[in-house]
Amino acid sequence: MNVLAIETSCDETSFALIKGEGGLKNPKFKVLKNIVLSQIKVHSPFGGIVPNLAKREHLTNLPILYQKVEKFIKNRKINIDLIAVTIGPGLEPALWTGINFAKNIHKEKFPHSQLVGVNHIEGHLYSFLLGKDFYQFNPSKIYPAIALIVSGGHTILLYLKDIITWKKLGETKDDAVGEAFDKVGRMLNLPYPGGPEIEKVAKKGNSDFVNFPRPMIYQKNYDFSFSGLKTSVLYFLQDLKKEGKKLDENLIANIAASFQKAAFDVLVYKTLKAAQNLNAKSVILAGGVAANKFLRKELKKECVKNKIIFFAPPFDFNTDNAAMIGVAAYIQYLKGKKRRISAQANLEI
Ligand code: KG4
Ligand code: ZN
Repeated sequence: MNVLAIETSCDETSFALIKGEGGLKNPKFKVLKNIVLSQIKVHSPFGGIVPNLAKREHLTNLPILYQKVEKFIKNRKINIDLIAVTIGPGLEPALWTGINFAKNIHKEKFPHSQLVGVNHIEGHLYSFLLGKDFYQFNPSKIYPAIALIVSGGHTILLYLKDIITWKKLGETKDDAVGEAFDKVGRMLNLPYPGGPEIEKVAKKGNSDFVNFPRPMIYQKNYDFSFSGLKTSVLYFLQDLKKEGKKLDENLIANIAASFQKAAFDVLVYKTLKAAQNLNAKSVILAGGVAANKFLRKELKKECVKNKIIFFAPPFDFNTDNAAMIGVAAYIQYLKGKKRRISAQANLEI
């Protein structure tokens, strides 16, 4: 099955063409094309994403990127079976640009295909399946699984009985972990988005420099909270200022490393607790923050210690991309689930 996928939920305009095989029992995928155009440069002067600017950029970029994909489809005479588009969660004006574009090409170019509306978080959830071309995972070794989805908008822990059946165990009560990274990045005068920047500078820092709080770590639930941790960093910086200390490179590295360690200690501890308590065979890490090598290393180390298999997407598929939306569409189509094709900014998983 060939899937043409579109993602415009936030600040990345992306098209992908993927091939899915094996059905729900043995799903495997090959990415034929995945183009991601990031709007970071447009939004960074504002220190965050401006929804209407995102919409404007998507409207400009969608036809340009599509031309490239169309050429590829025509040259290789690819028959499109599904058109997948993200319907939420995300920024409503941004979501609509992708949805309207998908509806148009469905009508004008591929009337015999099926249009599938995809939940963006499900895209992240399945992104680990985008390993090597047609890599055959063995579902009996994966499920039951615990999935930790960490992005700019979400911090969610799921229990998966099998590839299509899951239960939400917990989520953040306030800021998403990626959001906290971006806000702390701003406090430390780092460029937007703060996540990758904090990882970079933290490499030179001492993670024991400040003992920041590990919110909710020992609470007997699977929820998270990162707003208090973020505020602790703010208070620490205010105290430094009062003492007349200058925020130099060294200090920034130490604070970034301490903050990163505090945030990830909670994620790793609670994910492992869930995996142990629910006898999971594997832990799946996904979402933009999964691009963080320190988090991947720490979580994998604990999984290995506990004889739990660790999965994370290849680096290209951590942050937003359309390939993962294509994978989710393939699975959703086979599952027979139909969704209303309209923007749903607060769609839940
Ligand atoms: O999944 P994603 O591209 O978009 C959402 O669905 O939100 O995630 C973006 C988030 C941003 O908050 C960004 O700072 C964070 O992922 N991020 C990282 C890293 N790379 C991206 N956070 C920590 N370390 C990274 N290396
Ligand atoms: Zn995302």
